[in-house]
Amino acid sequence: MSQWIGTANQSYASYAMEELRRLIEGAAFTQLAAGEVFLMNSPQSRETTLQAIHQQEPIFLRHVQPVDRTIEIAGNANDLEQLSDMVRHAVLTFVNRRTAVHIRRTSNTAYLYSAADTKAVLDAVLEEIGAEPVVQQPEIIIAIYAAVNELYIGFGTPSDMLSDWPGGAVRFQREEGQVSRAKFKLLEAEREFGLNYAKYQKALDVGAAPGGWTSLLLERGLRVTAVDPADLHPSLLEYPTLTYLKRNASDVKFDAGSFDLLVCDMSWSPMLMCKLVLDLEPALAKGATAIITVKLMHRKPLQTIRDVISRLETEFALQKAKQLFHNREEITLYLQKK
Ligand SMILES: C[S@@+](CC[C@H](N)C(=O)[O-])C[C@H]1O[C@@H](n2cnc3c(N)ncnc32)[C@H](O)[C@@H]1O
Repeated sequence: MSQWIGTANQSYASYAMEELRRLIEGAAFTQLAAGEVFLMNSPQSRETTLQAIHQQEPIFLRHVQPVDRTIEIAGNANDLEQLSDMVRHAVLTFVNRRTAVHIRRTSNTAYLYSAADTKAVLDAVLEEIGAEPVVQQPEIIIAIYAAVNELYIGFGTPSDMLSDWPGGAVRFQREEGQVSRAKFKLLEAEREFGLNYAKYQKALDVGAAPGGWTSLLLERGLRVTAVDPADLHPSLLEYPTLTYLKRNASDVKFDAGSFDLLVCDMSWSPMLMCKLVLDLEPALAKGATAIITVKLMHRKPLQTIRDVISRLETEFALQKAKQLFHNREEITLYLQKK
């Protein structure tokens, strides 16, 4: 038996639970924050459950934390006392280790303290017991979820939790003059899929306007061909490494093997997107990477995703499919041309 808190993007929790139900026979669920956060009781041990999750990572499960302790919320300073004692008692788990404290609160929790206040108190306890409180690159995370009446606490590595951000909510700094928020999706994909865009030479960006993705790839030193009937942001036109084709993607053609990276964020019908990508596929070199968003327009996202993947798999090998924190009504695919 083991217990977990799972988190998905707003209104996608039911799909994360459906995926988990298929992976872990007998798993039972309780909603903690509607459409977003849930408690999972697994009949399997912690290790077996984690193994199942890692072997076939659910697309809609953004974050998962084990529940090692549950504390009834008193609604006063006793709660902080109990959390502090719990960390002190687990001294061997944290001593000499880079330890991060992640706190999330549901909106109507009886727990009084902010995430920042709780973290300050627990960081002091960590120092007292010889651990190293950190924010970035922790070896171990103390994850606390404040539900309405309970604090659910779990210890684990970033890999155990599928993220090193609280609840998997990855944040990037907004830059001055940033072309579009869509840039964050491509940044998050790089992180999530363990990529380094600077390693590629020539990218094709299909559905590029206003140009957030194109701008990121240009900044990373790639030659970029951007295709979109809509206008690109004027600041991008100064790049000599940019080729801008102000056209529909169905009207462009390239020499075989021209690109080692394809990115596509068309916000379009998934099946039409598949057709366009497959038509452009000969322009990619063997082994080229593709990062593609898939719009989830229908009631049955899991079925849509299965259909899209099976079409694309004629020419591409799927590396990972994930709903990223910055994806709204969509998911992101990471593929490699066969
Ligand atoms: C969500 S926006 C892309 C945002 C972009 N990734 C960014 O970072 O700024 C979708 C774009 O796809 C373009 N698009 C839709 N269908 C297209 C097609 N058939 N060919 C080319 N572009 C298309 C739209 O004009 C729109 O600019």
